[in-house]
Amino acid sequence: MIRAIPQIGHPVLRRSCEPVSADELSSSEVQTLIDDMIETMRDAEGAGIAANQVGVSLRICVIGLESNDRYPYKPPIPLTVLVNPELSFIDDAIYLNNEGCLSVPIRGDLPRQMNIDVGALDRDGNHFARTYRGLTAGTVQHEIDHLNGMLIVDRIEDTRTMSTWAMFQEHKMDRYLERIRPAIEATEPKEA
Ligand code: NI
Repeated sequence: MIRAIPQIGHPVLRRSCEPVSADELSSSEVQTLIDDMIETMRDAEGAGIAANQVGVSLRICVIGLESNDRYPYKPPIPLTVLVNPELSFIDDAIYLNNEGCLSVPIRGDLPRQMNIDVGALDRDGNHFARTYRGLTAGTVQHEIDHLNGMLIVDRIEDTRTMSTWAMFQEHKMDRYLERIRPAIEATEPKEA
Protein backbone atom coordinates (compact mmCIF):
# COMPACT_ATOMS: atom_id res chain seq x y z
CA MET A 1 0.00 0.00 0.00
CA ILE A 2 1.27 3.45 -0.87
CA ARG A 3 1.43 5.60 2.26
CA ALA A 4 1.37 9.40 2.62
CA ILE A 5 4.80 11.05 2.95
CA PRO A 6 4.97 13.70 5.70
CA GLN A 7 6.57 16.96 4.58
CA ILE A 8 9.11 19.20 6.33
CA GLY A 9 7.39 20.75 9.34
CA HIS A 10 5.81 17.46 10.43
CA PRO A 11 7.21 16.62 13.89
CA VAL A 12 7.71 12.90 13.07
CA LEU A 13 10.55 13.91 10.72
CA ARG A 14 12.36 15.61 13.61
CA ARG A 15 12.19 12.79 16.14
CA SER A 16 15.02 10.30 16.45
CA CYS A 17 13.58 6.89 15.49
CA GLU A 18 13.51 3.95 17.93
CA PRO A 19 15.57 0.76 17.45
CA VAL A 20 13.57 -2.24 16.22
CA SER A 21 13.51 -5.35 18.42
CA ALA A 22 13.64 -8.87 16.95
CA ASP A 23 9.99 -9.45 17.91
CA GLU A 24 8.86 -6.21 16.29
CA LEU A 25 10.83 -6.95 13.13
CA SER A 26 9.18 -10.35 12.65
CA SER A 27 5.67 -8.95 13.27
CA SER A 28 3.28 -8.72 10.33
CA GLU A 29 2.84 -5.04 11.13
CA VAL A 30 6.53 -4.23 10.56
CA GLN A 31 6.84 -6.58 7.57
CA THR A 32 3.87 -4.79 5.98
CA LEU A 33 5.47 -1.45 6.85
CA ILE A 34 8.62 -2.51 4.93
CA ASP A 35 6.57 -3.61 1.90
CA ASP A 36 4.70 -0.30 2.00
CA MET A 37 7.94 1.70 2.27
CA ILE A 38 9.27 -0.02 -0.88
CA GLU A 39 6.01 0.62 -2.73
CA THR A 40 5.83 4.24 -1.57
CA MET A 41 9.47 4.91 -2.50
CA ARG A 42 8.98 3.48 -5.99
CA ASP A 43 5.73 5.34 -6.53
CA ALA A 44 7.38 8.64 -5.57
CA GLU A 45 10.51 7.82 -7.64
CA GLY A 46 12.78 8.13 -4.64
CA ALA A 47 16.17 6.44 -4.28
CA GLY A 48 15.51 5.76 -0.61
CA ILE A 49 12.96 6.20 2.14
CA ALA A 50 13.00 6.10 5.93
CA ALA A 51 10.21 4.75 8.15
CA ASN A 52 9.49 8.19 9.62
CA GLN A 53 8.80 9.34 6.05
CA VAL A 54 5.68 7.19 6.20
CA GLY A 55 5.00 8.38 9.75
CA VAL A 56 6.51 5.47 11.74
CA SER A 57 9.30 6.29 14.20
CA LEU A 58 11.37 3.09 13.80
CA ARG A 59 15.00 2.70 12.65
CA ILE A 60 14.26 1.18 9.25
CA CYS A 61 15.20 2.57 5.86
CA VAL A 62 15.11 1.24 2.33
CA ILE A 63 17.32 2.15 -0.60
CA GLY A 64 16.82 1.05 -4.19
CA LEU A 65 16.83 2.50 -7.66
CA GLU A 66 16.44 0.96 -11.07
CA SER A 67 16.01 3.81 -13.51
CA ASN A 68 13.83 6.76 -12.79
CA ASP A 69 13.02 10.18 -14.19
CA ARG A 70 13.59 11.93 -10.90
CA TYR A 71 17.27 10.86 -10.73
CA PRO A 72 18.36 10.14 -14.32
CA TYR A 73 22.07 10.52 -13.41
CA LYS A 74 22.14 8.14 -10.44
CA PRO A 75 23.76 4.74 -10.84
CA PRO A 76 21.39 1.87 -9.97
CA ILE A 77 21.09 0.88 -6.30
CA PRO A 78 20.27 -2.71 -5.28
CA LEU A 79 17.05 -2.84 -3.27
CA THR A 80 18.22 -3.09 0.35
CA VAL A 81 16.33 -2.92 3.64
CA LEU A 82 18.45 -1.55 6.49
CA VAL A 83 17.15 -2.18 10.01
CA ASN A 84 18.97 -0.51 12.94
CA PRO A 85 21.80 0.61 10.61
CA GLU A 86 25.17 1.61 12.07
CA LEU A 87 27.34 3.89 9.96
CA SER A 88 31.11 4.32 10.01
CA PHE A 89 33.37 6.43 7.81
CA ILE A 90 36.22 4.62 6.04
CA ASP A 91 38.36 7.72 5.44
CA ASP A 92 38.17 11.51 5.22
CA ALA A 93 37.12 11.72 1.55
CA ILE A 94 34.16 14.07 1.09
CA TYR A 95 32.29 15.25 -2.00
CA LEU A 96 29.85 18.08 -2.45
CA ASN A 97 26.56 16.49 -3.45
CA ASN A 98 23.27 18.12 -4.37
CA GLU A 99 20.33 16.29 -2.82
CA GLY A 100 16.61 16.33 -2.85
CA CYS A 101 14.22 14.56 -0.50
CA LEU A 102 10.69 13.18 -0.75
CA SER A 103 9.84 15.26 2.35
CA VAL A 104 11.43 18.56 1.25
CA PRO A 105 10.35 20.51 -1.85
CA ILE A 106 13.82 21.94 -2.58
CA ARG A 107 17.29 20.64 -3.35
CA GLY A 108 20.66 22.00 -2.29
CA ASP A 109 24.40 21.38 -2.05
CA LEU A 110 25.70 19.47 0.94
CA PRO A 111 28.86 17.53 1.82
CA ARG A 112 28.81 13.72 2.05
CA GLN A 113 31.41 11.13 2.94
CA MET A 114 32.59 9.29 -0.17
CA ASN A 115 33.31 5.90 1.50
CA ILE A 116 31.30 4.33 4.30
CA ASP A 117 30.73 0.99 5.99
CA VAL A 118 27.27 0.07 7.19
CA GLY A 119 26.23 -2.76 9.49
CA ALA A 120 22.51 -3.53 9.76
CA LEU A 121 19.89 -6.23 10.02
CA ASP A 122 17.98 -7.30 6.93
CA ARG A 123 14.20 -7.71 7.09
CA ASP A 124 14.62 -11.31 8.30
CA GLY A 125 16.80 -10.21 11.21
CA ASN A 126 20.12 -11.40 9.73
CA HIS A 127 23.11 -9.15 10.31
CA PHE A 128 25.03 -7.96 7.26
CA ALA A 129 27.78 -5.46 6.53
CA ARG A 130 28.32 -3.56 3.31
CA THR A 131 30.66 -0.93 1.91
CA TYR A 132 29.09 1.92 0.01
CA ARG A 133 30.94 4.49 -2.09
CA GLY A 134 30.12 7.58 -4.10
CA LEU A 135 26.53 8.59 -4.80
CA THR A 136 25.05 5.50 -3.17
CA ALA A 137 27.06 6.22 -0.01
CA GLY A 138 25.36 9.63 -0.07
CA THR A 139 21.93 8.05 -0.36
CA VAL A 140 22.62 5.79 2.64
CA GLN A 141 23.83 8.76 4.73
CA HIS A 142 20.71 10.70 3.71
CA GLU A 143 18.42 7.90 4.93
CA ILE A 144 20.31 7.41 8.19
CA ASP A 145 20.05 11.19 8.76
CA HIS A 146 16.26 10.75 8.57
CA LEU A 147 16.41 8.10 11.31
CA ASN A 148 18.23 10.66 13.47
CA GLY A 149 15.61 13.36 12.80
CA MET A 150 17.81 15.27 10.36
CA LEU A 151 16.84 16.74 7.00
CA ILE A 152 18.91 18.03 4.06
CA VAL A 153 18.24 21.64 5.09
CA ASP A 154 20.35 21.02 8.23
CA ARG A 155 23.38 20.15 6.10
CA ILE A 156 23.09 22.74 3.32
CA GLU A 157 25.96 25.09 4.15
CA ASP A 158 25.38 27.66 1.41
CA THR A 159 21.66 28.41 1.31
CA ARG A 160 22.16 30.15 -2.05
CA THR A 161 22.55 26.70 -3.61
CA MET A 162 18.93 25.86 -2.77
CA SER A 163 16.57 25.49 -5.71
CA THR A 164 13.34 23.91 -6.76
CA TRP A 165 13.60 20.76 -8.86
CA ALA A 166 12.56 22.63 -12.01
CA MET A 167 15.17 25.36 -11.47
CA PHE A 168 17.83 22.75 -10.70
CA GLN A 169 17.10 21.07 -14.00
CA GLU A 170 17.19 24.35 -15.88
CA HIS A 171 20.15 26.12 -14.26
CA LYS A 172 22.28 23.78 -12.18
CA MET A 173 22.13 20.20 -13.48
CA ASP A 174 24.93 20.50 -16.07
CA ARG A 175 27.52 21.90 -13.65
CA TYR A 176 26.43 19.46 -10.97
CA LEU A 177 26.98 16.48 -13.27
CA GLU A 178 30.49 17.69 -14.08
CA ARG A 179 31.25 18.20 -10.41
CA ILE A 180 30.06 14.81 -9.22
CA ARG A 181 31.55 12.71 -12.00
CA PRO A 182 34.19 11.31 -9.59
CA ALA A 183 31.44 10.33 -7.12
CA ILE A 184 29.44 8.63 -9.89
CA GLU A 185 32.56 6.72 -11.01
CA ALA A 186 33.36 5.69 -7.43
CA THR A 187 29.83 4.42 -6.77
CA GLU A 188 29.59 0.96 -5.19
CA PRO A 189 27.95 -1.45 -5.33
CA LYS A 190 28.00 -1.17 -9.12
CA GLU A 191 25.05 -3.37 -10.00
CA ALA A 192 21.44 -3.17 -8.97
NI1 NI B 1 14.90 12.24 2.31
